[in-house]
Amino acid sequence: MKQKLSAFLLVVANILLPLAILTFGSGFFPYKPFLPGLAEYRDVEIERAPEAPFDRLVFMVVDALRSDFVYSHASGFEFTQRLISTGAAIPFTAHATSPTITMPRIKALTTGSIPSFLDVILNFAESDTTATLAHQDTWLAQMQAKKGGRLVMYGDDTWLKLFPTTFTRADGTSSFFVSDFSEVDNNVTRHVPDELENNDWNAMIMHYLGLDHIGHKTGPRSPHMFPKQREMDNIVQQIYEKLESDTHLQSTLFILCGDHGMNDAGNHGGSSSGETSAALVFISPKFKQISNGVPCPCKTDEEFQFYNVVEQSDLAPTLAGLLGFPVPRNNLGVFISDFLPLWEDKDKLQLVLGNARQILNIVKATFANSPFEGSAAAENCDLATSSVNELACRWARATGHLNERVGGVSGNYGQKIARLTEVFQSNSAPGKT
Ligand SMILES: *[C@@H]1O[C@H](CO)[C@@H](O)[C@H](O)[C@H]1NC(C)=O
Repeated sequence: MKQKLSAFLLVVANILLPLAILTFGSGFFPYKPFLPGLAEYRDVEIERAPEAPFDRLVFMVVDALRSDFVYSHASGFEFTQRLISTGAAIPFTAHATSPTITMPRIKALTTGSIPSFLDVILNFAESDTTATLAHQDTWLAQMQAKKGGRLVMYGDDTWLKLFPTTFTRADGTSSFFVSDFSEVDNNVTRHVPDELENNDWNAMIMHYLGLDHIGHKTGPRSPHMFPKQREMDNIVQQIYEKLESDTHLQSTLFILCGDHGMNDAGNHGGSSSGETSAALVFISPKFKQISNGVPCPCKTDEEFQFYNVVEQSDLAPTLAGLLGFPVPRNNLGVFISDFLPLWEDKDKLQLVLGNARQILNIVKATFANSPFEGSAAAENCDLATSSVNELACRWARATGHLNERVGGVSGNYGQKIARLTEVFQSNSAPGKT
């Protein structure tokens, strides 16, 4: 009798074990729909793409550039701070989701999606080509698809692994030698003057590793840190001055950002606020039209949360608007509203609406029998039985407002945009869905 019982329990345990693994797996590696192909404006029924203020992009990543490294009083980024306080640069803290290591962060910055822990595994299996983004919709693919689109890349060779066929010219540096603080960066900087003269690319990516290496070896308060920040700031100055003086660069958007931050010990990978708070600065003399500048350097009450905090994934749809291409298909980010004043009201609505419909396409792919078509708005969306139904309810309310006849009064566009923004903010924030 006793033997029978233990045999039975053994069987039960063996059934429960795989079930437990499955349950864990489905939570830890959630199902994400993947929409193949490049986005087009007609996917989101945009009649006329709003005209873009920029046509070229300089994208400068400084590995592990934590927000305070640029914005605090102890920062070596003096020139950048001057740009921020005069309005030529618009600063943000970009929230990097865990895992805070380079490859998944580049995925988030380029596709606008939110990579899972699966990407960590792929990050270490570096020879694995399934990790490549060559066939995904990213802002790189969109820039390349433009007429005469060419890209160049200097720095961390992770980009070359992710985009093996994208770049016309490239020089990768390896992140393997962590004790190297200068050669990895000099190998990037030596290409900059020549490339700034070249007129054949529409996106240049630079990825500096030195600051991250200093963090790993000697921590964020290392005596090497300040001079390295000064060095990076000098490169910002060099590029900005060319944007001001050269006509072939006058519609160039310049972005300075970190892929993630670092903790007090100079390491990263986890989810402490130091690791997840990266700097993100949009730079161009054109921004003086919409900004009078904000005080910089500055202090912050909350650890590392300087200025407006955005998600890293918000970069992809924002670049789409600023550079004039459709929002990448698998993007979950939201256009950063600080830039809306660059357009007139009708175009603002097109931008926000295009972003909303693009995310809606993902929601529809995720929830097969979604209630979106023709669903009626309830009085109180909070009473909806599931989060999808709640989203459908809010969407119906927002689009209901869009279809109201407004008689061409431009002020109403503002209202419409506000309704759409509300839908986004209550539902598409990562972690809530
Ligand atoms: C820097 O460039 C030189 C010349 O191309 C190369 O020999 C060296 O390995 C590079 N260093 C790094 C860290 O990539």
